[in-house]
Amino acid sequence: MGRAKKVVLAYSGGVDTSVCIPYLMNEWGVEEVITLAADLGQGEELKPIQEKALRCGAVESLVEDATETFVKDYAFRAICANTLYENRYPLSTALARPLIAKLLVDAAEKYGADAVAHGCTGKGNDQVRFDVGIMALNPNLKVLAPAREWGMSREEAISYGEKFGIESPVKKSSPYSIDKNLLGRSVEAGPLEDPMTEPPEEVYEMTRAISDTPDEPEYVEIGFEQGIPVSLNGDLLGPVDLISQLNGLVGKHGIGRIDMIENRVVGIKSREIYETPALLVLIQAHRDLESLTLTADITQYKRGIEQTYGQLIYQGLWYSPLRQALDAFITQTQERVTGMIRIKLFKGNAVIVGRRSDNSIYTPDLATYGADDQFDHKAAEGFIYIWGLPTRVWSKSVNS
Ligand code: ARG
Repeated sequence: MGRAKKVVLAYSGGVDTSVCIPYLMNEWGVEEVITLAADLGQGEELKPIQEKALRCGAVESLVEDATETFVKDYAFRAICANTLYENRYPLSTALARPLIAKLLVDAAEKYGADAVAHGCTGKGNDQVRFDVGIMALNPNLKVLAPAREWGMSREEAISYGEKFGIESPVKKSSPYSIDKNLLGRSVEAGPLEDPMTEPPEEVYEMTRAISDTPDEPEYVEIGFEQGIPVSLNGDLLGPVDLISQLNGLVGKHGIGRIDMIENRVVGIKSREIYETPALLVLIQAHRDLESLTLTADITQYKRGIEQTYGQLIYQGLWYSPLRQALDAFITQTQERVTGMIRIKLFKGNAVIVGRRSDNSIYTPDLATYGADDQFDHKAAEGFIYIWGLPTRVWSKSVNS
């Protein structure tokens, strides 16, 4: 008696997920393993991965191109929410997980599988995001996580795989653990585990070292329509093109690197290096356009919502009623967030140097220090009398 008969396995082509195939069948009595590899714009050939799964024993090897959905339904929502986990990480990896969970559940339902599996270990955030995402979408499916239980080292996993004809990695394997998609790269482990070790240049791929960036600044104008980025330098672009072109433009100037110690869901602190060129600049630009078009109270209240929204994404609660409810608030606020932000890119910095919107509520007549000032200065006196009243009352009482 096995744990499940038919399983859909999230598949990346790497050692661990490949070993999962014979492991599920031989150790856990699974009869059929269907693999699913998601294309999220990681720029990797998926055909060889698809074939490898079949060689490892999968009965069916699925490849789903979900890049556009990833940007439209996940990344753009995060941009509208200006989400930065612990004020720094724009959640490039975290956002992919609920989408992969959905693809797994859809495939399990289509193929009549009774379980879904992934190759995450027990120490990371991704297991939480997959497990909770899957149970939210279909609570009747079992979730199998062999790598959480098998206790094999990497070497042991490789030799286990070899017993079943799985070729061991040809390249000397990199000391890093890397996750990659259109939004960015997350790199950890190896020498990076020492928080004092400066990341070697080899960990970066999407961003140039400052020493290699152009000596002239470059400007980019990003257009937004109701909070959604729609154009670069006046050219209307689809979601995927916009992100990939902006990644190139921004990364060339060495912008988008993050080196941080973060707090994982399972309580561990970890050191991670991120490269998320476009996403960081889009959040920065979007936030600026909001300051031009939203009222003070909405802008300030929304900061708290954003904090919670980012935590929900990081902690695997994308498919929660709270996230949906916050989405309703955020969507409502975006109605007037239409306009253009002008940014100067130079030597690792993206600096906003201009903004424009037909919905701007910045009022030059009120803001100006010039002769055409319309602000009633005398009215300020009465305002301050009342505004300061409680302070004055309190001060009199303690100082008398
Ligand atoms: N710490 C990041 C997160 O939880 C990335 C996790 C995957 N990172 C990796 N290097 N494999 O979203």
